[in-house]
Amino acid sequence: MSDTPRSHGRKAITTSFKPRELMSDERLAGVWTAQVITLFPDAFPGVLGQSLTGKALKDGLWQLETIDLRPFGIGKHRNVDDTPAGGGAGMVLRADVVAPAIEQARKTAQAKLPLIYLSPRGKPFTQAMAKSLAAGPGVTLLCGRFEGVDQRVLDHYEIVEVSMGDYVLTGGEIPAQAMLDASVRLLPGVLGNADSAVEESHSNGLLEHPQYTKPAEWEGHETPEVLMSGHHGNIAKWRRAESEKLTQERRPDMWAAFDPKKA
Ligand SMILES: C[S@@+](CC[C@H](N)C(=O)[O-])C[C@H]1O[C@@H](n2cnc3c(N)ncnc32)[C@H](O)[C@@H]1O
Repeated sequence: MSDTPRSHGRKAITTSFKPRELMSDERLAGVWTAQVITLFPDAFPGVLGQSLTGKALKDGLWQLETIDLRPFGIGKHRNVDDTPAGGGAGMVLRADVVAPAIEQARKTAQAKLPLIYLSPRGKPFTQAMAKSLAAGPGVTLLCGRFEGVDQRVLDHYEIVEVSMGDYVLTGGEIPAQAMLDASVRLLPGVLGNADSAVEESHSNGLLEHPQYTKPAEWEGHETPEVLMSGHHGNIAKWRRAESEKLTQERRPDMWAAFDPKKA
């Protein structure tokens, strides 16, 4: 399987935002650090370079380091993958290519960072994991490609496998960006209003209530009257009831696990 893009005669769309390699003297001491080991460093910061996460990156509230797997490849062609032992479809990222990239990441990290391999076989990513990552010094993410990574490197470094959902993507770069987005937005100073992270879906075991904005009436649909009342107590009660109703309807698993004492 090849990851080489084919243009099919169409002009490739490129971004003007080039991720920059962090030089050692550029690293910000004590700042939450994301290291991403990938065959596609140009995919970063990607969407993380936009909006709140992008501003926070520029403001130095977090830092991003991409570690390109290709230079660690073998031989003249810097091969990073080989055929699966035992036969079968596709290619597997070699342990002797991934390991030196991990060593490089460890050498440049200013703290011991948790090492995560994005994988559809992993435990599902949750808001609780995002909170826990945000509370630490950062994270090193290994993005797989092809059929994945040689098991020996995962075992050797005791890498935790985390999944972004029960579906298979082409590579770990999109899940890596999702995981970083969910974590970075919880870092102090990233969200304008810290309450927005406290009240939203999955933070208190419930899904969020519906949201409305102006105009008060649109295409014959009205904003619920209570939200226009200015009565904070009634608004809070209504929102809580809507949250509970939505959670019961859409996520019976969450509702069964919901503990009102912790909410
Ligand atoms: C085509 S997938 C490999 C799937 C692998 N052969 C399997 O069946 O488990 C290539 C890479 O994409 C990433 N990936 C794909 N789906 C993912 C998911 N749901 N969550 C996290 N990473 C995923 C992983 O890094 C994986 O190594």
